[in-house]
Amino acid sequence: MFTIINKFYLGIIMQQFRTNRDVILPPLIYGTAWKKEKTAELVCLALKSGFRAIDTACQPKHYNEALVGEGILQSGIQRSEIFIQTKFTPYPGQDPNNIPYDPSASIRDQVLKSFEVSKKNLKTEIIDSLVLHSPMPSLEKTIEVWNVFEELADQKQVLHLGISNCYDADFFKSLYKYVSVRPSVIQNRFYADSGYDISLREFCLQEGIIYQSFWTLTANPHHLESDIMKKLVNRYKLTPAQIFFNLLNKKGIIPLTGTSSKTHMLLDLQAANYDLSEVSLDLFI
Ligand SMILES: NC(=O)c1ccc[n+]([C@@H]2O[C@H](COP(=O)([O-])OP(=O)(O)OC[C@H]3O[C@@H](n4cnc5c(N)ncnc54)[C@H](OP(=O)(O)O)[C@@H]3O)[C@@H](O)[C@H]2O)c1
Repeated sequence: MFTIINKFYLGIIMQQFRTNRDVILPPLIYGTAWKKEKTAELVCLALKSGFRAIDTACQPKHYNEALVGEGILQSGIQRSEIFIQTKFTPYPGQDPNNIPYDPSASIRDQVLKSFEVSKKNLKTEIIDSLVLHSPMPSLEKTIEVWNVFEELADQKQVLHLGISNCYDADFFKSLYKYVSVRPSVIQNRFYADSGYDISLREFCLQEGIIYQSFWTLTANPHHLESDIMKKLVNRYKLTPAQIFFNLLNKKGIIPLTGTSSKTHMLLDLQAANYDLSEVSLDLFI
């Protein structure tokens, strides 16, 4: 089971999550995809606004990881205050003209090279969370990547391991069973087509694994614009996004947001602090 603890921070009580490897995570993660040349400026703004967890990937097709590192530096916030998560993206997810490793090398060398590039880009020797961007074509191949991740974890170069875009609960449970450094993070699209990962999320809650959601707002306009949501907005004087993020947190889910708006950053960061104890995500999902 994950633990929620409270920390007095920037003048407010902020909920924090303690993971199965005893790492503390804030209730919202700033995502850095698709920001291109604005990446450094937006990462810096997000950190100055109060975000303390950043998600990126060694995948130049969608992320400018080097500018994430620049943004962190520009913010002036100490490295130890920030949870940095990056990903190893297997070959099919890369732009064939811009791959940060040699795709003809062994899997081990691909992962190690990608990790070296990430550390250089992010100007850090320790990565808080390393995520496999999507499962490999088989469990065996996925475990092969995972074994390299485990080497990095054993060397304390990485604190947490995770997997993304993994919607098959049985596959995830098998991975969990066969590896020695168990996943601490799963990062998935939060949408109706996957049934909102209900059984996967139950397993995560049981085992203290953090479920991170993306597409949280963009895939759910039907919930955000629903009559129930309108009533909650009226009652609590919060935005639909704030209410949704708050209810997700109560279920142990940490949403990612990649907003470019300072107003949205500040509103979203406040979301975890409201007491909506009479309301549950079960009203929607
Ligand atoms: N693992 C994967 O395969 C994967 C895939 C996709 C994304 N991700 C990660 O997840 C992060 C988030 O991506 P996402 O796809 O969930 O979407 P997103 O980039 O967070 O986009 C959210 C959209 O909602 C809008 N919005 C409206 N009100 C908002 C509010 N109050 N707060 C926040 N946004 C609001 C934003 O516009 P404004 O900018 O105007 O606020 C933006 O257009 C990415 O940056 C990336 O780190 C991972």
